[in-house]
Amino acid sequence: MALTQSGSTRDHWSSRSAFILAAIGSAVGLGNLWRFPAEAGANGGGAFVLFYIGCVILIGLPVLLSETLIGRHGQASAPESVRRVASASRASSHWDILASVGVLSAFLILSFYCVVGGWVLYYVGVFFADIFQSGLSGGAFAGQSAEHIEGLFPEMIGSAAWTVGLDALFLGITLFFVARGVSGGIEIVAKWLMPAFFILLVAITIYGMFGGAFTQTMSYLFTFEPEKLTGEVMLAAVGQAFFSLSLGVAGMVTYGSYVGRNVNLASTSAIIASADTAVALLAGLCIFPIVFSAGLAAGAGPGLLFESLPHAFQEMPGGALIGLAFFIMVGFAALTSSVALLEVPTAWVIDRFRIVRPLSAILVASGAMVLGALAAMSTNTLADWHPLNFIPIFEGQGFFDVLDGLTAKFFMPIGAILTAIFVGWVADRKLIDMENGIGGLLHLTWLFLVRFLCPVALLAIMVVGIFPDLLA
Ligand code: PFF
Repeated sequence: MALTQSGSTRDHWSSRSAFILAAIGSAVGLGNLWRFPAEAGANGGGAFVLFYIGCVILIGLPVLLSETLIGRHGQASAPESVRRVASASRASSHWDILASVGVLSAFLILSFYCVVGGWVLYYVGVFFADIFQSGLSGGAFAGQSAEHIEGLFPEMIGSAAWTVGLDALFLGITLFFVARGVSGGIEIVAKWLMPAFFILLVAITIYGMFGGAFTQTMSYLFTFEPEKLTGEVMLAAVGQAFFSLSLGVAGMVTYGSYVGRNVNLASTSAIIASADTAVALLAGLCIFPIVFSAGLAAGAGPGLLFESLPHAFQEMPGGALIGLAFFIMVGFAALTSSVALLEVPTAWVIDRFRIVRPLSAILVASGAMVLGALAAMSTNTLADWHPLNFIPIFEGQGFFDVLDGLTAKFFMPIGAILTAIFVGWVADRKLIDMENGIGGLLHLTWLFLVRFLCPVALLAIMVVGIFPDLLA
């Protein structure tokens, strides 16, 4: 616990490394494991990867530092932190809208993210059960047809009882840790699960390399095909970098608010962004060798993780055990991210309504459960419900996709643009200098990026997201 400006005690990370692990835990998630490898492979290989790394360094990192410094200065929930920076800068307290949009996005993302977390739990169960059937040495799903294995996923997402039940379970686990607080819950989960995650990722990657498809993977992921890097692909890469670094949803403002004064935010932000990017690259090197050595196509979307991979584990020696380890690893990554997503609105409810943490977390999780249940049913009972059918870009989309699209195309870019403008143009320069931990040329470069490149790039994502025909 540490004393805040207002004199009350407020929970803090117990150390710098606890903050780093928790922030990496928030960043490393389903986005790294399933979206990045599939996008990189399909959209220009090495050219995409290089462009993505450029986005992380030039657009993601400056905003990451901006978010954490607002939080660290404010030492309160995200909107209150922004108000405190605004007040110290003699600016309007209405800038808190940037964080309010973030709190709303975090809540909406949490609602559908836990649905996918539930799907992951399903496969943890499937592989666990399969160990007893297939044994430890041969492949998974002994004696079962490919149709049966690949049919497990559509069958599961086609049942409301499964999807809603698993969503509730995943959200319940998330709630358990958030309700216990920053140092007693969120930090514990990160300290144990993130190292376990890294060990599993590296071990499975090394094991997968022996399958014989490493060269094929390298050429799929890294062959340089700049002609595939269209405007649309580039914007998708910027969006992916933002989602992957957990930006634009006030998550890093919230996590930054539990950081002590003695931590250098610039170097920690660089560590967080590097780790997140390294995991995204490693995920490709982990997943594709398994899929390719089973003779399957790369595939994209949920099919890659939930249909092709389970099928591929059938061909792999020790497939049931490796499959179990793989989905436990994905579950760990998803949990440390969903914990961050629940923490953002929970911290706001605690501050705003002066309610104790466990109750605040329960209230937020209950709301997310209602929306999550609707999202979970968009692959079954509510498959024909298209809530925003009257808006062209949401036409024909179910509730799950609408939540995803609303946050990725509107709320996250708006939150991030406002953050960049606020820190770059509005906040007091002395305050910023004091918080960011960089000086000289690096500071000027950072300021330039936050002031110009970040808002423009993010505005482009939003405009093209709303008017997709512009790039056609
Ligand atoms: N960064 C996470 C991922 O790549 O899956 C998603 C995420 C987590 C976004 C936490 C925002 C957040 F606050």
